[in-house]
Amino acid sequence: MNQKPIGIFDSGVGGTSIWKELHGLLPGESTVYLADSANAPYGERSKPEILDLSIKNTEWLLSKGCKLIVVACNTATTNAIAYLRSNYDLPFIGIEPAIKPAALHTRSGAVGVLATRGTLSSELFAKTSGNYASGIRVIEQMGDGLVPLIEQGRIDSDEMTELLHRYLAPMITAGIDHLVLGCTHYPYLIRRIKEILPTHVNIIDSGRAVAAQTKRILEKHDLLADRPSGKAALKFYTNSDPQLLSSFLTDVEDSYTVEKITI
Ligand code: DGL
Repeated sequence: MNQKPIGIFDSGVGGTSIWKELHGLLPGESTVYLADSANAPYGERSKPEILDLSIKNTEWLLSKGCKLIVVACNTATTNAIAYLRSNYDLPFIGIEPAIKPAALHTRSGAVGVLATRGTLSSELFAKTSGNYASGIRVIEQMGDGLVPLIEQGRIDSDEMTELLHRYLAPMITAGIDHLVLGCTHYPYLIRRIKEILPTHVNIIDSGRAVAAQTKRILEKHDLLADRPSGKAALKFYTNSDPQLLSSFLTDVEDSYTVEKITI
């Protein structure tokens, strides 16, 4: 069981930002990454649709023999992880906007959260936000349109510049000193976001925390792989454009495969 792969899914290429943290921390673990790009963006779908897609992705990763699943998508986590955990007999790791560290460290008392419509309107987000953000101002912004542009590889487009300016302007006016990235696609926008935000604003994403939590849970269940780094099988699958997925992996040094599938 220990030598079986970790499964990871996202609505598309964004979860590769989580995969990189995970592989950096656990290089001996084999991984199967599923990019459901044909169905992206999840963030503009209804909760039942997000749930159905999350079940489909889980079933597919189970068919690949995964020992644990990382839901590398805030939208799928906030809408579906409770269902997945109570209906499948393996550990799931999820990702949620990192409001807690932002709320703890803010000095200005104002923090921004940029996330998808599906995440910001979820019950789980409302609960987390209520638990950690009392007494501070949270400027929530739905990132409509950002994921589709990233999925088209248009990070440097004029449309992206225009959307980011529009979404970040109210946060700058409110005096935020922390910006929480609540979508796994958004770490690929950090360079663009930094061009717009004042330099003192800290940008927080949850990738490292998810990797650390995955390690803890593997240890707890005695599921860590016994394999030297460099010997792990790193497999990526997409139901859309394999070249696009590969273009988000150019900084990966170990060898991996990218395959197109129909699901
Ligand atoms: N990467 C997904 C997330 O973290 C993007 C959701 C979408 O496809 O809209 O929320």
